[in-house]
Amino acid sequence: MISRILHSNDFAADAARAILDHARKAIAERGLFRLGLTGGRSPRAIHAALIAQAAGLPWAKVQLTFGDERCVAPDHEDSNYRVAKETLIDPSGIPAGNVFRMRGEIDPETAAREYEDMLRAFAGRLGEPRYAHDLLLLGLGEDGHTASLFPGSPALDETTREVLPVIGPKPPPQRLSMTFPLINAAHHVLFLVPQADKRAIAEAAVAGDQRYPASRVHGQECTTWLLGP
Ligand code: 6PG
Repeated sequence: MISRILHSNDFAADAARAILDHARKAIAERGLFRLGLTGGRSPRAIHAALIAQAAGLPWAKVQLTFGDERCVAPDHEDSNYRVAKETLIDPSGIPAGNVFRMRGEIDPETAAREYEDMLRAFAGRLGEPRYAHDLLLLGLGEDGHTASLFPGSPALDETTREVLPVIGPKPPPQRLSMTFPLINAAHHVLFLVPQADKRAIAEAAVAGDQRYPASRVHGQECTTWLLGP
């Protein structure tokens, strides 16, 4: 399991290029690109760059999941799905059946189990023990959280469940999150950290600083940290 840090002076374009490289490779090798999306503010610019560079990408061979979601309606301003719908799902024309949405608007435990069951069913059809993203995008919080796995959360120690309802300090507090067993089943993980004020936390996480949940993420093949200038 390799970890590497890359620096970018053209963050959204470089992130989009990395995503497309993985997409083309996965589609060539397996006929499908399973991409996990991250939440927060960063994705908007990256999704726009992805759409701008993705000419000719067969979106029917792309599958989208969400690493986490806030427990709000899908059209709520805090919804990670809403951001993705506006900036990636609608502009790409990806078939609706290829987008696996976490239903933040229903009971959180029900939504978590529903999502976990949906991914497990798909993985089962491929003979996989659990769903294996080709590329999972993740962000990093100022406290070292990733997805909605926050410092001190009992979800950090989960070894069986793949999606859990969680409470976090970053508003809105009620969320759904993939857990490390599912996150770390990804072939590749790409952390997207454009903010300069998070560089020290990113470097500490790469060095294994257990104060930061992000330090516990290890893609099966490679974990890349793309940092801003
Ligand atoms: C969320 C995210 C979260 C986010 C980081 C970074 O739903 O809040 O998934 O993990 O990626 O907090 O967020 P920014 O990119 O907005 O700084």
